[in-house]
Amino acid sequence: MKGIILAGGNGRRLAPLTDVTNKHLLPVYDKPMILYPLNTLVQTGIRDILIVTGKEYAGGFLKLLGSGREFGCRFTFEVQEDALGIAHALGLAADFVDGEDCAVILGDNIYEDNLAAPVNSFRSGGHIFLKKIEDASRFGVAEVQGNKILNIEEKPAKPKSDLAVTGFYIYDNSVFNVIKTLKPSGRGELEITDVNNEFIRQGKMTYSMLSGHWTDSGTFESLYRANTIARDIKAAGRTTPFEEIIKKRNQKNN
Ligand code: DAU
Repeated sequence: MKGIILAGGNGRRLAPLTDVTNKHLLPVYDKPMILYPLNTLVQTGIRDILIVTGKEYAGGFLKLLGSGREFGCRFTFEVQEDALGIAHALGLAADFVDGEDCAVILGDNIYEDNLAAPVNSFRSGGHIFLKKIEDASRFGVAEVQGNKILNIEEKPAKPKSDLAVTGFYIYDNSVFNVIKTLKPSGRGELEITDVNNEFIRQGKMTYSMLSGHWTDSGTFESLYRANTIARDIKAAGRTTPFEEIIKKRNQKNN
């Protein structure tokens, strides 16, 4: 399976921080944000990873990540020229995925859970990860009945449940045909929620519930929360393999 990190977009909700760098390069506790979703992907065993970024500050990603050799991975970079939506950014990955299945993670999502089991047991269709939260209205919100997922609404004023759709998605290659049929939403973007609703309509979507902490980091409040989650995970002694890589890099530079 191929991996994709979506790190395009404007990050306007974090201005003025994002006036001077890309959102996904901002610090979350002791590391640049993008290292967290990268770790979540690498934990599943995926090593062939595409990073989709915006045009501005793209050099910062190369400087931080390089070819992937240090991380035991192979990285490929793609530029999304304009922030036309998450599904648009994913559409740019079609050639890279080249007929295989793919695991997609949003570059501002921080997960405590290890998602290796659902990634490795994936067979076909789509699979999403839900988290029970207090105010779901800022997210895609899922309506479920038993183990069946009925519908997702993007940022509903009155959420039908407390189940947020988090930013890790697994798809088979038909996702790229679905993306070709999408029309821009009211906010002018190709929405990942429209992709997911099409998989639901076709009866091909399954879901898992997250048990650990999860947050996005696209607002000041959620970025603050991301920092506390990252700090707590480290304080509990659960470090990522990237700690060693960063340490070695610092030794080389000093
Ligand atoms: O965090 C989970 C939520 O992410 C889901 O619950 C929503 O259904 C989904 O639409 C999305 O919501 P946001 O509106 O908060 O997404 P945002 O615009 O902040 O984009 C999240 C990441 O996606 C961003 O860090 C980088 C990537 N992205 C986004 C856009 C708009 C791109 O790569 N390109 C883009 O054009």
